[in-house]
Amino acid sequence: MDLSLHSIIGARSLGEFDAPAPVARGLPASAYTSEAFFALENERIFASSWVFAGFVHELARPGDAVPVTVAGRPVLLLRDTAGGIRAFHNVCRHRCLKLVDRPGNLGRAIRCPYHAWTYGLDGGLRAAPYFGGREPRAAPAGFDRSEHGLAPVRAAAWHDWIFVNLDGAAPPFEEFVAPLRKRLDGLDLSRMQHLATIDFGEIAANWKLLIENFIEPYHVQFVHARTTDQPLGDHYTVNEPGCLGCAVDVSREARKADVLSGDSRFLTLFPNFVFGLYLPDQLGVHLDTPLAPGRTLQRRAIYSLDPAPDSNGRAERLAALWREVHREDHAMCERLQQGRASDVAAAGGVLSPVWEDSVRNFQNLVIERLR
Ligand code: FES
Ligand SMILES: [Fe+2]
Repeated sequence: MDLSLHSIIGARSLGEFDAPAPVARGLPASAYTSEAFFALENERIFASSWVFAGFVHELARPGDAVPVTVAGRPVLLLRDTAGGIRAFHNVCRHRCLKLVDRPGNLGRAIRCPYHAWTYGLDGGLRAAPYFGGREPRAAPAGFDRSEHGLAPVRAAAWHDWIFVNLDGAAPPFEEFVAPLRKRLDGLDLSRMQHLATIDFGEIAANWKLLIENFIEPYHVQFVHARTTDQPLGDHYTVNEPGCLGCAVDVSREARKADVLSGDSRFLTLFPNFVFGLYLPDQLGVHLDTPLAPGRTLQRRAIYSLDPAPDSNGRAERLAALWREVHREDHAMCERLQQGRASDVAAAGGVLSPVWEDSVRNFQNLVIERLR
């Protein structure tokens, strides 16, 4: 398969996307619908960047493990016996069976269900029973167990968030998070407490539509009229290399209790870390996992920055609010995906230079990485 960007979306579409214009075009529809484009994104973006993959709080005890998908590959996140977080290719080194298929505690070892090859939590192969014959410990001549341990994946944790880099060649992790860290000046994330996680399951939309929707404030007043009260005029976009998003500093004094009406920051780290800060004391992080051009898995973790224990059902109230807000966004993202089946969408639509320059910059990052 020719995996060049030109062959996938066509020189003409690419030219139109690049063409200087007072009103920029969005990516052509094929960037959201084509299997080949999706495969190229997996290789050149998701296999070669720091990718957000999981939550530290889900690996509380040694042996806790969570299987995830990164760039289409099965990856295993776990906590080892020394308390460290590790990532491995989630594949048995015998016949390459996907090793762990649901979250849970593995005890002290990972045992493949097929022929009982057993790995320590450090990934080392401890046993390959009967592999060389009729005795439990029989090993073929020249078979060195130390060469058949689980293949490690570069991983890093920042607060509650676990990132992996499959090809091992992304810049240092500290460099990757620096632009977001810088924008959080003074915010003490060590006070953060996990309140709830919402599993939305599969959204019938390309991963980029979910990110683009998060970083443009244009839709908020229309789509979230019932769930938010943050006037468009108080919003602005954030366009920093490595940290795209938007924000709102609400000019009026009155805050409403049952909707989002305070100052907020909607920030991302490319490609898939989505971080929402709702001042003074709430945080939300989305884990978006691309599964196919038109299918993305989404989870949202909700955190409090208020150290007081959750006394009056705050977690439930926030989860209900965010379920509603995401439902409103998913409906739009799924229709954006459906619209891309039309010939009219081939040319990509147009983007507001004021409210959607963040979207354009995000799309530029995608195209730059794919070129
Ligand atoms: S495939 Fe895992 S032990 Fe055979
Ligand atoms: Fe929204």
